[in-house]
Amino acid sequence: MAMSEPNFAVGVAPPSALSASGNGKPVEYKRIYVWELPVRAYHWINAIALTLLCVTGYLIGAPIRAFYAAEAYQQFWFGWVRFIHFVCAFVYVFNFLARLYWGFVGNKYSHWNAFFPLKKSQQKEILDVIKTDVLEVQMHMPVSTGHNALAGLIYFGTFLAFVFQTITGFALYSSMSSSWLPRMFTWIVPLMGGESGVRFWHHTFLWFFVTFVIVHVYLAFYHDYIEGRGTVSSIIGGWKFDRADKSGK
Ligand code: HEM
Ligand code: HEM
Repeated sequence: MAMSEPNFAVGVAPPSALSASGNGKPVEYKRIYVWELPVRAYHWINAIALTLLCVTGYLIGAPIRAFYAAEAYQQFWFGWVRFIHFVCAFVYVFNFLARLYWGFVGNKYSHWNAFFPLKKSQQKEILDVIKTDVLEVQMHMPVSTGHNALAGLIYFGTFLAFVFQTITGFALYSSMSSSWLPRMFTWIVPLMGGESGVRFWHHTFLWFFVTFVIVHVYLAFYHDYIEGRGTVSSIIGGWKFDRADKSGK
């Protein structure tokens, strides 16, 4: 049930454009619809929810004492912080489940197997990315149209962290709620050495997400600049550009 590609005939930009290559000769580029609407919607809902979860989570762990100047009954700011945390938690979890579903019905770029380097070509690409972008001992490599294999693997690691944070989050929530969803996670609390253990790990993973976001946003701009294929705008509009003389994976 992959989504159909938007039609070029209806007044949008042509599928190819001419630009100058390093030696001054024009190079033809083709436009490829990579990130379908559900992937882009997932991305930005996740980005907003996760940012709010990090900020409100941090405030829950380290409340701002100056706000306690008024009497407790005259203020509700901490209540709002927790409320936003819980609303975003539900949005973030169901959004993630929708993305998992899309990994089975979406196009090849969003398919679940783009996140696991099971093919020889993906394993080779991981080495290429490390040599080119991390160690800088190699100048060029063929670039993937969708996620490169290393990025895909790191996203998979992030998805595991999403699951961990969801489990520990609902385990903390289970003592404050009688609804069936959080109650399913009650058994996690004794397993992690009580509420303080769960809270410790839930808090520690905050810093994993903060690190991921900083590196991720930097790399999005880095690849946009180095490759000149519209990486940043692709997660907004869905399109990337590939040289027409390359096969494009
Ligand atoms: C990636 C997403 C998330 C991040 C970064 C995050 C971060 C945090 C942090 C840093 C705390 C404070 C812990 C402390 O006391 O030091 C916290 C508290 C909490 N979080 Fe999350 N959280 C996330 C997702 C979730 C989810 C999915 C749930 C599920 C309901 C959840 C439920 C809770 C609960 C119940 C508390 C304790 C609130 C309280 O005792 O007032 N969190 N979170
Ligand atoms: C809290 C902030 C963010 C989080 C948690 C986040 C997370 C993610 C995740 C999980 C993916 C994989 C998407 C999938 O296949 O389902 C992704 C892809 C992507 N994100 Fe973000 N993102 C954030 C912010 C941003 C921002 C601000 C930008 C742009 C400046 C950006 C640009 C991209 C791009 C271009 C891709 C596709 C990357 C590729 O070609 O491999 N992200 N992001």
